[in-house]
Amino acid sequence: MRLPDDLYGDLVRSGPGAAAARRLGLPVPPRLRRHAPGQELLTGPALVLRVGAAPLAADVTAWLTGAGARVLDDLDAAGGERLGAVVVDATAARRVPDLARLRELLAPAFRRTARGGRVLVLGAVPAEAGGSAEDGGSAEDGGSDGTPEDFPGGFGDVEARSVQQGLEGLVRSLGKEARGGTTVNLLRVAEGAGAALRSPVEFLLSARAAFVSGQPLLVGPAPEPPPGPAPARERRVVVVTGAARGIGAAIAEVAARDGAHVVCADVAAAGEQLARVANRVRGSALPLDVTAPGAPRALAEHLRRRFGGADAVVHNAGVTRDRSFVNLDENAWDTVLGVNLDAPLRLTAELLRTGGALAPGARFVCLSSINGLAGARGQANYAASKAGLVGFVQALAAPLARRGMAANAVAPGFIETPMTASMPPLPREVGRRASSLQQGGMPVDVAEAVAWLASPGAGGVNGQVLRVDGQHLTGA
Ligand SMILES: NC(=O)c1ccc[n+]([C@@H]2O[C@H](COP(=O)([O-])OP(=O)(O)OC[C@H]3O[C@@H](n4cnc5c(N)ncnc54)[C@H](O)[C@@H]3O)[C@@H](O)[C@H]2O)c1
Repeated sequence: MRLPDDLYGDLVRSGPGAAAARRLGLPVPPRLRRHAPGQELLTGPALVLRVGAAPLAADVTAWLTGAGARVLDDLDAAGGERLGAVVVDATAARRVPDLARLRELLAPAFRRTARGGRVLVLGAVPAEAGGSAEDGGSAEDGGSDGTPEDFPGGFGDVEARSVQQGLEGLVRSLGKEARGGTTVNLLRVAEGAGAALRSPVEFLLSARAAFVSGQPLLVGPAPEPPPGPAPARERRVVVVTGAARGIGAAIAEVAARDGAHVVCADVAAAGEQLARVANRVRGSALPLDVTAPGAPRALAEHLRRRFGGADAVVHNAGVTRDRSFVNLDENAWDTVLGVNLDAPLRLTAELLRTGGALAPGARFVCLSSINGLAGARGQANYAASKAGLVGFVQALAAPLARRGMAANAVAPGFIETPMTASMPPLPREVGRRASSLQQGGMPVDVAEAVAWLASPGAGGVNGQVLRVDGQHLTGA
């Protein structure tokens, strides 16, 4: 696929253009380090910092060492070397002075991150951070300091939740201050997450997450797939709707690169293009209009008969019909809501009720949008559909967890696709630069996040929205 040119980015990153940009103080978007075969996880050593008891630091150190990284626990040990990653275990932070300790440890390390470095803060889930006897919280504080009775955990609970929520503001700010393609993210670790934390840590530190920054993400315990035989086949089966082009085609490529057989679904009119993508990824093509009345049944039967169940279903097919709200006619409304929201709902319901359409531990991933989270002028229909998908994965999370499954959404920001290439030049340039990474993302950036959420290791992430937007200024 020929992508639109980022002329400004190319100009200010090359010899004379770069010198002129420096002189004029113009922003120079960093070159992002993306996944390449055989690449090391990090570009330099990883520093693991501990705030207080830091119960996860030892596990993280062991995982990173296992992934081939050199792990340090003291900045001095880095000598003159730049850090590939800084991981801070702040899950035990409960008091305001713990944030001061975090600053003291992180500030000198933040300054020393390499180009394309990674900063990852591990926090607790604020609602779970209320004081416990071990951390000097509720047991001592409750009542003895004169706290009213309707604060059964004492005011220490309030402080603990405040401190943990404070980590989000810190991370979002550091994302905006980071330079050279360094990303900064927060993983909120729920009680009992255990080994389910490993995959999110590795993903966010890797080059696969080059366009993910300033994001909080919650990880909990991975659900157990229910007992029963898994389908006897070598490759995982991943279905991608709207796979004939754009982000869908990139998702098919990354899923196939990671070893899956990809069922590439798209409207019959996309026939030739769809066949080309399916051939390229050595998958199969499935002509399917997701809005057709028979589509849910056809897909469920295809997956049951042909594969013995899908391991992941990616609801990617999407359309826009932009117009101001008062000028939106019924057709523009129904088309967008029909493809983007109603079809994922109906397909998912049928797949869940058809025995054998889904493999044990199956994953759903929906393509939302930052415009769905923040709202956008002229996109009331699109935003309603894309925000609807957030409600969809949140509502699915608990019932799916009980079946050993998970559903999540990815919210792309400004991505260099034919869709954004067709925007008028000025809004396109503004949209492209209005993120901490000062550039548009590539379809592969979205595809990496989707493929990761569809992978077996990501089971601890459920009902979440992951923004892949270089920390765009649109919305939170
Ligand atoms: N491009 C971006 O910057 C961006 C940003 C945020 C979210 N998204 C979302 O990502 C997804 C992919 O976007 P894209 O830019 O690759 O779009 P695209 O228009 O390039 O591709 C969409 C694909 O969906 C298919 N499709 C449309 N209606 C269908 C139907 N009824 N049944 C089956 N397939 C159908 C189309 O034929 C096409 O191949 C969409 O859901 C979009 O809303 C894109």
